[in-house]
Amino acid sequence: MSPERIKLAIQKSGRLTDQSLELVTRCGLKYSRGKDQLVCYGENLPLDILLVRDDDIPGLVQDDVCDLGIVGLNVIEEKRLEFAARATAPPFEQVMTLDFGRCRLALAVPEEFDYGGPAALRGRRIATSYPRILGRWLATRGLEADIVALSGAVEIAPRLGRADLICDLVSSGSTLAANRLREVETVLDSQAALIRTPVPVSSAKREWMERLLVRMDGVQQVRESKYIMLHAPRAALPRITALLPGSEHPTILPLEGTDEKVALHAVCRENVFWETLESLKAAGASAILVLPVEKMLA
Ligand code: PRP
Ligand code: ZN
Repeated sequence: MSPERIKLAIQKSGRLTDQSLELVTRCGLKYSRGKDQLVCYGENLPLDILLVRDDDIPGLVQDDVCDLGIVGLNVIEEKRLEFAARATAPPFEQVMTLDFGRCRLALAVPEEFDYGGPAALRGRRIATSYPRILGRWLATRGLEADIVALSGAVEIAPRLGRADLICDLVSSGSTLAANRLREVETVLDSQAALIRTPVPVSSAKREWMERLLVRMDGVQQVRESKYIMLHAPRAALPRITALLPGSEHPTILPLEGTDEKVALHAVCRENVFWETLESLKAAGASAILVLPVEKMLA
């Protein structure tokens, strides 16, 4: 891989993989996946993707092996606390959150555990891959517990007798259910985020990185956006525009053969629900059309 190509690290196989690849596809990248399945080579942009363990992503960005990475806020926060403990700034920058991969870091106890509240945690052994986030959560509540740091298979620690309860990521909850564990406290809310190296790169590469970030931002913005078109009596326009969620300046166009009615076109930056359409109709609108927005460049 040429040093002039941007390298983006994403999770190899997990919660964030599919949507991370979908995001780069929506940014215009066409890629072919290498035989080893560990690299996706960009065919039309100077961008290649490395598929790695999510916990390794900040390290790869920090060591300058990758320029960008998509990883959960949970992993980012744990790394940040690790550097804060050494009184140094983390060697990566968070660029933006990505609005997918939502999950939470939560405390979960075995079904038979009698949990009456945080005080029940005193002196207990808690298994986790996030010892620093958990340590901070306990400290701010004045609780002392024994943190058992594990790099994986946290959910089976209580069964193995290594811990009394766990602190792990929960998204659908199926891992907890399969291990007969019950969620009792949320420690951190998480979603995917983009990080970048603070190390300066060549100007050609920087230019492509900036373009990619603008495209990612555009993809983010259109996710919920809709283009709405309708007909309305002129007199009803103030009421109707007030009903459009997150739209700034609608376009008003004349309609052939009538002075009293106009056409209105607007971009709504929030989802448009059936309830909104019903209210628009009640306010006098007709011929209402709602279209998805594919791309947007502010
Ligand atoms: C997390 C966590 C659980 C699972 C929870 O793993 O460790 O195993 O997701 O999801 P669920 O509530 O939908 O069952 P992650 O994706 O971070 O993979 P990793 O732990 O192997 O890095
Ligand atoms: Zn992980």
